[in-house]
Amino acid sequence: MTYEQKLQQEAELWGTEAQRMATELPPDWRAHRHLLYNVINHRADIDALLSRVQLGMHTLELGCASGWLSLAMAQQGAIATGYDISEKSLQVARDYYASIADDVAGTVTYAMHDLNALDLAPETYDIIVVKGTLHHLTNMPQVIAQVHTALKPGGLFWVSDEAGDVNMRSALFSSALMFLLPTQVSYREKFAGLFKFGLNAPSRIKASMEAEDLSPFEGAGREHDWLALVQQQFTVEKLINKPAVTGYLAHQIRLPRWLAIPLLRTIGVFDDLLVRLGVLKNTGVVVYARK
Ligand SMILES: C[S@@+](CC[C@H](N)C(=O)[O-])C[C@H]1O[C@@H](n2cnc3c(N)ncnc32)[C@H](O)[C@@H]1O
Repeated sequence: MTYEQKLQQEAELWGTEAQRMATELPPDWRAHRHLLYNVINHRADIDALLSRVQLGMHTLELGCASGWLSLAMAQQGAIATGYDISEKSLQVARDYYASIADDVAGTVTYAMHDLNALDLAPETYDIIVVKGTLHHLTNMPQVIAQVHTALKPGGLFWVSDEAGDVNMRSALFSSALMFLLPTQVSYREKFAGLFKFGLNAPSRIKASMEAEDLSPFEGAGREHDWLALVQQQFTVEKLINKPAVTGYLAHQIRLPRWLAIPLLRTIGVFDDLLVRLGVLKNTGVVVYARK
């Protein structure tokens, strides 16, 4: 498959997902922040990012999908721009923004760009954000260099992304919890899977945690260490290692919210401790870096 064909597939996959999500919720962070996986995994960091956005700041989001994070920055008063390869996603973003634009303090513009071929103007943005997208990019070192060029001196680069491969201990821990806790897979199917896959079961969970084969570019950027590249070029202000399995579990668990939230938070405390002790490996990192 050529690069262009893969890019088309990528755009279609995420565009369909953006449209599906928009039937359930508007592409608006105020609604999305209550979703279980955001409550558990993303809310604190996104709220912290938004608290840094000030009226009139220029912001750029790379891989904006249905545009909710760029819109949230515009709601804080930013002159926001969001880039993505998926026209379908961008249309969801533009339609929703058009319906509420009068109530937005700043502005947002959504545009189609291939991030692997970025050509940004120097010293243009106060904040550049990339969430869950760096590991999809074949040209990641150039993208990070472009971000450095395009940020104003002292500007903020905020990245939330994967931390490379999932290690087998994390996969085992996750498998045990997935087996015990109610998930979308019934207990009957779990027992059947245990007999069918035996010792290979944790490898299958590892592949699922890494979202293997989900998109044509899933893991395309894994040959580069994005965190090392950011550390070389920027001053890292804050680095948060996400727990190893709690974020994944938040997607899988099927329990009422009143039970799921305290349970996942408790698991998160132990998960975090095991990551700090080096028993498990964090699966995600959030970085606040300054040019
Ligand atoms: C995993 S999704 C993350 C979306 C969003 N940042 C979020 O966290 O909800 C990856 C996004 O990157 C976009 N993308 C992937 N490769 C791209 C490329 N080469 N150029 C532009 N956008 C790309 C996809 O269309 C998709 O919207």
